[in-house]
Amino acid sequence: MSVIERAECTDVVTGAAGFIGSHLVDALLEVGHCVVGIDSFDPWYSPAHRARNIEIACADPGFRLEVKDLRTADLRELFDGASTVYHLAARPGVQHSWGAGLTRTIEMNVTVTGKVLDAAIGAGVDRVVLASSSSIYGNTAAAGGSRSKAPLSPYGASKAACEDLADVYRHRGLDVVTLRYFTVFGPRQRPDMAMHRLFEATRRCGPAFGRRGSGEQSREFTFVGDAVAATVLAGTVAEARGRTFDIGGGCTVSLNEVIDTVGRIAGAPVRVRAEPAPAGEPWTTVAANDEARAILGWQPRTSLRHALCAQWVWHQGIRLASMPSVLRSAELVPAGV
Ligand SMILES: NC(=O)c1ccc[n+]([C@@H]2O[C@H](COP(=O)([O-])OP(=O)(O)OC[C@H]3O[C@@H](n4cnc5c(N)ncnc54)[C@H](O)[C@@H]3O)[C@@H](O)[C@H]2O)c1
Repeated sequence: MSVIERAECTDVVTGAAGFIGSHLVDALLEVGHCVVGIDSFDPWYSPAHRARNIEIACADPGFRLEVKDLRTADLRELFDGASTVYHLAARPGVQHSWGAGLTRTIEMNVTVTGKVLDAAIGAGVDRVVLASSSSIYGNTAAAGGSRSKAPLSPYGASKAACEDLADVYRHRGLDVVTLRYFTVFGPRQRPDMAMHRLFEATRRCGPAFGRRGSGEQSREFTFVGDAVAATVLAGTVAEARGRTFDIGGGCTVSLNEVIDTVGRIAGAPVRVRAEPAPAGEPWTTVAANDEARAILGWQPRTSLRHALCAQWVWHQGIRLASMPSVLRSAELVPAGV
């Protein structure tokens, strides 16, 4: 495995304030890269959540935040001098992509990705790392499955179309490395995602967790630290040129098992409300990490339990951070002192 040599590294991260993007920014700064982060703080979930995500990076002299919408920004100018563009901005989520969310999903994912790839080739960027998803597989990423593109939702179809656009620009000579992330979780996770809603449902006053279907559906869950390590390697390992990788956490577990584990970590059961089985969700997902292991030298390192503990600590922290400071200090004083 060889690492691309660069005199001075400037990376661009789109979706820099998002869940995975903000961790990626932290990791790139940590290895000494200069980073330009682009994010519109799209209001579909709390901009304050994302402002907190990017707070530490904003204090780093190697980081510049551009609050811009990729649909309207001059991307050639923003990408000028960049070695690698990590394109993570999107409108993620299967359930939001139906009905009223359809147009936005296509625009934010497909149209924007086309614009990013076009600007990258125009600006002479060395490599684009494209965030794709296990959703492109539908039910084919199962044990013994054909692993072909067979999306079951507009979101999955939009990500499959982004991959097709990547192929178009590869033919024109652009180096695009595609990562198919399998259900990522950990600190800063989006509030619509299962782990986030599960931890919130362990609080007496929090909303119950809407369990869609029997809970026996299963996912390969991936800790965000592992997903980000793979992403940095995808941007820097020379042999990754033009390739597509599955990035999965290493074991597939059912939603019911996760509900039990979250309850044990939080010390309180998850309050569950039954909901009908959702449209567009595969029954199971299993990643094929072999190529990522062989070419990127990557493998997932964090157990589900450790990763869930890290997310639980984060949930505790945001609750404290959102309290007035006087309450915060009162809560930290042990009873009877
Ligand atoms: N989280 C997962 O489990 C998962 C799984 C598979 C794939 N992915 C993909 O990984 C990427 C990151 O996902 P995430 O969970 O961190 O999502 P996120 O919503 O937390 O982050 C996306 C960020 O992109 C920004 N953004 C969206 N459209 C924009 C635009 N037009 N201009 C500028 N900024 C814009 C949003 O404001 C947001 O901060 C996405 O491409 C997603 O499809 C995520």
